[in-house]
Amino acid sequence: MNILTTGANGQLGNEIRLLAARDSGSPAGMTNGSLSGLDPESHFLFTDVTEASEESVAMLRKLAGGAPVDTSTRRLDITDLEAIRTLVSEEHIDAIVNCAAFTNVDAAESQPELAELLNAKAPENLAVAMKEVGGLLVHISTDYVFGGDPYNTPCREEQTGTPTGVYGLTKLHGEQAIARVGCKCVILRTAWLYSEFGKNFVRTMLRLTAEKPRLNVVFDQVGTPTYAGNLAAAIFTILARPVPGIYHYSNEGVCSWYDFTKMIAEMADQVRHDCNCHSGLDHRSHSGLDPESHPSRSSCDIQPCHSDEFPSPVKRPAYSVLDKTKVKQTFGLSVPYWTDSLRKCLSALI
Ligand SMILES: NC(=O)c1ccc[n+]([C@@H]2O[C@H](COP(=O)([O-])OP(=O)(O)OC[C@H]3O[C@@H](n4cnc5c(N)ncnc54)[C@H](OP(=O)(O)O)[C@@H]3O)[C@@H](O)[C@H]2O)c1
Repeated sequence: MNILTTGANGQLGNEIRLLAARDSGSPAGMTNGSLSGLDPESHFLFTDVTEASEESVAMLRKLAGGAPVDTSTRRLDITDLEAIRTLVSEEHIDAIVNCAAFTNVDAAESQPELAELLNAKAPENLAVAMKEVGGLLVHISTDYVFGGDPYNTPCREEQTGTPTGVYGLTKLHGEQAIARVGCKCVILRTAWLYSEFGKNFVRTMLRLTAEKPRLNVVFDQVGTPTYAGNLAAAIFTILARPVPGIYHYSNEGVCSWYDFTKMIAEMADQVRHDCNCHSGLDHRSHSGLDPESHPSRSSCDIQPCHSDEFPSPVKRPAYSVLDKTKVKQTFGLSVPYWTDSLRKCLSALI
């Protein structure tokens, strides 16, 4: 099976690179896979609009722990249908995992045309290309397709989308466009994604709680943090035995952004402490982190606040929890609890 990953230099794309590497050797350009459940002859091709950053490549190599990891990037702009067709044909692609998107929720409000192009038209292009060769599209969508109604129970797949902003609306349009094309497709809606790569809430809060004496974080928006490494593992399971449909995947549990931040700061302290105990050294002397910006213990005073204290161009859902019953039953997935996954990510970051 030849699998094309788009947006491979983003958070999720990099976790797919890592998973592909952990189980296999990787000649340049394509990665041989022998992953649990996946055909050992599977090959991954990683594409994006730009090269991977040096920071991401260094993190990939560190996390791969010596296993050969494919850091190469073939250029592919998924707004270009002809370019997709050419690559699919040249590389005999059987499946596409679409990790590319316009993901900046606030910026989407002022750039609705670009958001629509990347989140709706581009997935349609991928669906067309897969329909033409009888291939599979695994497309990632979002909990932000919901939120307009005052939910207080986890959202199920069949609920009507009620987005509150341009990002959620264009992602919903992407799902609808794929359905219209009618290719073999798995749509995975996820939420509150973080990883060791790129810009995300965990990395931002690690820095801010180390730098600032006090931080206000909203407690009136709740959801489920999701480690992109867990989502990538779920995608591998789905690729091995695809059952077309829409599914929800996040980690287990529920918290507010305030709780999430408190947990990041407390767990980071624990990880640093454990690190010191095991090494008998101050972690700063061997972690490679800047001792000024990463003190061994956070003294930041983290306080809950209301959303209206942070003026934002878009109203975010107050309750954004996904029901994962369908994905667990269909694919036999066991979903990690959010704090367990957070500890894993922090251990890699610190
Ligand atoms: N992040 C979240 O909290 C979250 C929550 C729910 C769902 N999701 C969904 O999960 C998926 C993965 O998110 P992520 O956080 O991993 O995204 P990400 O880190 O923003 O990565 C997206 C990647 O797509 C690339 N890209 C942009 N335009 C492209 C184009 N025209 N052709 C090809 N690649 C292009 C980006 O390149 P540049 O960086 O150069 O633009 C980037 O490398 C997305 O579908 C997103 O909507 C994310």
